[in-house]
Order: sequence, then C-alpha cells, then structure tokens
Amino acid sequence: MTKLRKAVLPVAGLGTRVLPATKVTPKEMLPVFDRPALQYVIDEARAAGIEHFVFVTGRNKSAIEDYFDSAYELEHTLQAKGKTGLLDELSGLLPEAGRCSFVRQQAPLGLGHAIWCARDLVGDEPFAVMLPDMIMVSDPPCLAQMAAAHAEVGGNIISVEAVPRADVSKYGIVDVGASSGAGLRHLNAMVEKPAVEDAPSNLMISGRYILQPEIFDLLADQGAGAGGEIQLTDAMVRLMSKASFHAFEFTGRTYDTGSKMGYLEAFLALALEHPDHQSDAADMIKAFAARL
Ligand code: G1P
Repeated sequence: MTKLRKAVLPVAGLGTRVLPATKVTPKEMLPVFDRPALQYVIDEARAAGIEHFVFVTGRNKSAIEDYFDSAYELEHTLQAKGKTGLLDELSGLLPEAGRCSFVRQQAPLGLGHAIWCARDLVGDEPFAVMLPDMIMVSDPPCLAQMAAAHAEVGGNIISVEAVPRADVSKYGIVDVGASSGAGLRHLNAMVEKPAVEDAPSNLMISGRYILQPEIFDLLADQGAGAGGEIQLTDAMVRLMSKASFHAFEFTGRTYDTGSKMGYLEAFLALALEHPDHQSDAADMIKAFAARL
C-alpha cells in the first residue's frame, strides 16, 4: 500500500461570505484565537504523517506563502530580546524546508478544477484533500484516523457527518451502506448540493478526502455541475464506478470558518480548547452570557 504523503489544500477562494474581513487578508489567514485558521489544518495533516503540502492559491494570497517561510526580522528581534521560547514555538509550526509547493488556480472554475491544478505536484500516488475552511478537532485527528483506515482498506475515503436536513443543499451529500469497521461505511452514492427533496440522506461531505490519482484524468474532462462549477464530487461519482470508496463517519467537532457565525463559533471553541487559556476564556464567555 502506497503511504499517504501529500495533501492538497485549495486556498484560492475569495472568502466572500466573510467580507470585509477577507478584503486584503486571505480567509485562511484569519486568526482563530491565537493562530491562523490554516495552521490548525496543517497541524492535522502533520499528525497524519503528511510530508508535502500543495497549496492551490490565487491572486492576493501571497500572505499564505509568507506565513510558511521564515520571517527574518521577527526572528532576529525575538533572538535579540532573548525570547527563545516563542522562537522555538514559531519554528515548530513550520513544515520542513522544501515541503510546501504553491500552484495558482488561474480562474475560479470550482473545487474540482482547483484539485486538478495540483496534478503535476501530486503525481501518481494517493493524496489527501483538506478543505481549509473546516477545522476538525478530535484525538486522534480526523485525517490521522482516515490515513490509518486507508492503510487497511486502500482506495478512496471521504469524511462525512450529519447536518440538519434543511442544510443539505449547501453541501455534497452521500448515501452510505453497511458498516465496514473502523468508522467506515460503504459509499453507495453521492451528489453535490442536492435539493432537500432529492438528497439521499443528511450526511454531508465534510472536507477531508483521501483520493487515488486516477481522479485527475476524470477531472481533466469534467464538465460544470452544481453552481456552474467543475465539482470534485461529480468526478468522484465517476471514479466510484471503477474504484473502491468508503465514507468515514467523523465523530469529533467540526467548525466551518467560511461564514461569519461559523468563524465566531470556531474562534470561541478553539479558545476553549487551548490548554493555557481555556479557563480564562470560559470565565469571559460566562460573564458575557450573564449580561445577555
Ligand atoms: C465543497 C464541496 C462539498 C462539501 C463542502 C464542505 O463545497 O464541494 O461537497 O460538502 O465543500 O464544506 P463548497 O463549500 O466549496 O461549496
């Protein structure tokens, strides 16, 4: 079984649902408590053994590239002030030199097109896709659980979780069959952004995928689907007819930072999860609640 080594992170989106905060700051760089949203996703990837990060970026996203680089002036100043603890913490967050690649999606043609832009950098091996809007918290982390399952069963695996029935038209929705152990279920069908009455279930595709490289050939000629965009889900439907697909039922906590209320929830939740600050954060939130 080929080891999972690479993750593709589509970060080209404009973040229109969080404007004006995202006018000059990429949405992936917005702080969620004390670090950019993207850092949580990178940490999750590293915990799953991912060695190489492929960022599919766009215009006005250069802050992401700068974040995954050393910051000479900052490091020099921290060194001069003897703040070595902070220096170590910062350098520990960075992937190793040479482990990040950046490729631009030149037009906003959809998630499927964004993933296809990574084809040369991924090459002929299985890879993860991580949607950075979704911060997923659990121990072990979501992708690590999926990578362990993948080492057992191979093929393609996508994370799913239940959403209120009224929300199904915002997501890719799956139909699952029998349990096949380790949180996996056989995938019977999936559809991108169905109408409520057409949705096969209320299980959404929640933003972590392990895919086989055959998906790239299918994405190459994938026509536009829901919303007039080239959808990853539509190419996965075609791959399902020739390759094994499982759904992984994630049971941790998922925060969607792509909307204003989701971002607020993520910010509060991650403050409450921070080992050094959770107690002060809880006191602050209780004091706020008492004033409502
Ligand atoms: C994308 C996927 C969809 C998935 C969703 C999760 O949609 O196409 O299948 O359920 O992410 O957030 P988007 O949010 O890009 O419209």
